This record gives sequence, structure tokens and C-alpha cells, in this order.
Amino acid sequence: MGNNSTIGEFIIESQNHFKYTSGELSRLLSSIRLAAKVVNREVNKAGLVDILGAEGSENIQGEEQQKLDVYANDKFIEALTSREVVCGIASEENDDFIRIENGDNIASKYVVLMDPLDGSSNIDVNVSVGSIFSIYRRVSETGSPVVLEDFLQPGSEQVAAGYVLYGSSTIMVYTTGHGVNGFTLDPSIGTFYLSHPNLKTPDNGNIYSINEGNYVHFPQGVKDYLKYCQEEKGERPYTSRYIGSLVSDFHRNMIKGGIYIYPTSTKAPNGKLRLLYECNPIAFLAEQSGAMASDGYQRILDIKPEELHQRVPFFVGSKNMVMKAMEFMENS
Ligand code: AHG
Ligand code: MN
Ligand code: MN
Repeated sequence: MGNNSTIGEFIIESQNHFKYTSGELSRLLSSIRLAAKVVNREVNKAGLVDILGAEGSENIQGEEQQKLDVYANDKFIEALTSREVVCGIASEENDDFIRIENGDNIASKYVVLMDPLDGSSNIDVNVSVGSIFSIYRRVSETGSPVVLEDFLQPGSEQVAAGYVLYGSSTIMVYTTGHGVNGFTLDPSIGTFYLSHPNLKTPDNGNIYSINEGNYVHFPQGVKDYLKYCQEEKGERPYTSRYIGSLVSDFHRNMIKGGIYIYPTSTKAPNGKLRLLYECNPIAFLAEQSGAMASDGYQRILDIKPEELHQRVPFFVGSKNMVMKAMEFMENS
């Protein structure tokens, strides 16, 4: 396949990679793509908010301006619901999961879990944000309303996962379990083109990404690993890069080689990131690109979730770097 294929062509040509060839997953991915384009448009306009009306004020149609994370959530839910491609949605923005029972949705096999806007604190300052999604086959019987168990599956059961990064360009990166591919949006015509075929994370890297402002609250193993990163020896010291948008930090480290850590701390005893909406989809992409994802001791994708909004510590990136960090955790 040429590098100039669109995401739509790519999906059709790789149909045989999809476990279930009803076309349902393709339609689902295409709904996510549509929502991403709508969110992209809004993210690009975010800087105009002060001119066009601040949050809380009314826009030109007389509707109240929404915060972008709420807007993104609504757009993703709308796109997924109206195309009848999922039977249930769980979102970081909603306390409970959503049952979709209108039209043919109930007949769908799939549930979607998402972080509709990741890195939202960066919006006001023109820094990259993203959307993350994770897709599972429901475990309860098709045709019946979805239940909590459909969402509480270990990450290893994911059928597909990906993110959209609204960066200096907008890119959609996803996996269906056959490697990772990236598609860059040509904004002038609104089409995603295959730009990063078969993405691979280098086994080694020299970037570490962590919020060092929390250093004094980190577990000893993480402190020891950071000292190791900063030590003058061989390829070290490593360089530090932290955007504060998981999607952006992960995307950079996947391409350049590096490790991202959001550990437990005395302030956040389970870490900050959410297992179902952030860690599992990113871990699936990581593994599919040859990288590793751990909670410091065990594989993220093996964790059996107990609740929708569960948090876990997260270590993700170049294989040898994650293994080294785990060694420090083990020995601390
Ligand atoms: P969200 O905007 O969805 O709440 O996620 C923000 C997350 C993640 O993207 C980022 O890596 C992390 O929070 C940053 O947290 P700190 O500000 O604590 O470093
Ligand atoms: Mn997030
Ligand atoms: Mn979010």
C-alpha cells in the first residue's frame, strides 16, 4: 500500500486483519474519525474564545459556550450514537457508562471507552491536546442492554485502540492488534492520510517524561530511577521532556524513544491516570509498537479492572527503559 492512501482506503485494504469482518469495526472507526474532525475544528478555534465569547457567555447562536472537554465528550457521544455502531460508551467525563438502545445500536457488538479531551489544562495556552479511545467486544449477550462487566475487561481484550493528537498537525494513531499506524489530517480537505505506517518505538531512548514537581512525594524506586537517568555515564544523562498531555508525551516518546512515568505519590496514592480511558489504550498501542507498559511491577494489560474510573500508576515507553525502571521499583 502506498504512503498516499487515505485512512478509509487503508481500513478497507486491511479488512482481513480485523477479527470480525462484518464491517462494523470499520464503521465504528469512521465515526471516531468524524468526531475527531469536529473536535479538531473546535480546538483550532480555541484561541478565539476571548474574541468570540468566553466560557459561560453565549455564542452567536444564543447557546452557552461549553468547556472544550465537555464539547469533545458530546461530539464523540453524538457521532458514536447516531451511526449506530456501539451499544455502550464509558467516558472519563461521565460518572456512569451510557447504554445506547436506540435504533440498531443494541445489535452492536462493541463498547467504546474514551478520554475525549486529554491534557485539557493545556488548551488555554495553545499546547497540544488529544482524544483517546479503546474498543472492546461486549461480553454480555448481543441484543440485551450493556452491563458494567462489558466495560471492566482487562486491556488485553481490546479489539482496537488509538488516539487523535491535535498538535502542530493533527494525527490519528490506532491499532487493531496488527501494528500501529498514524494518519495525518490534511485540514484543507478534511482527509486523514497514512503518514506513519508501522510505527515502532526504539528499544532504547534518552528522554524521560515525568512531573518532577512532585519529586518529594514519589516512591523511592522512582526517585532512584530518576537519579539513574540524570547520572553521567555512557548514554546518560537522559534529557527531560514533559508536556503534561499524555497523548503528546507518549507520541513523542514512541517516535524518538523514551519513557513516560506517572507514579503513585503521597498525594495520589494510585497515581492520576485512569486505567480504562488512558492507560489501557496507550498500553495496547505501546505493545503493538514494540514498547512496554507497566504499573511499576506488572503489565498494564493484565490488570482486571474493578471500577470504571480506577487509577493506576503508569510506566510506558521504550522496552529497556521501562524494564530498568521496574528493576528500581523492585529493588527499592
Ligand atoms: P485530562 O486532561 O484528561 O484530565 O488528563 C490530564 C493527564 C495527562 O494527560 C497528563 O499527562 C497528566 O494529566 C498531567 O498531570 P500533572 O499535571 O499532574 O503532571
Ligand atoms: Mn486524560
Ligand atoms: Mn480528559
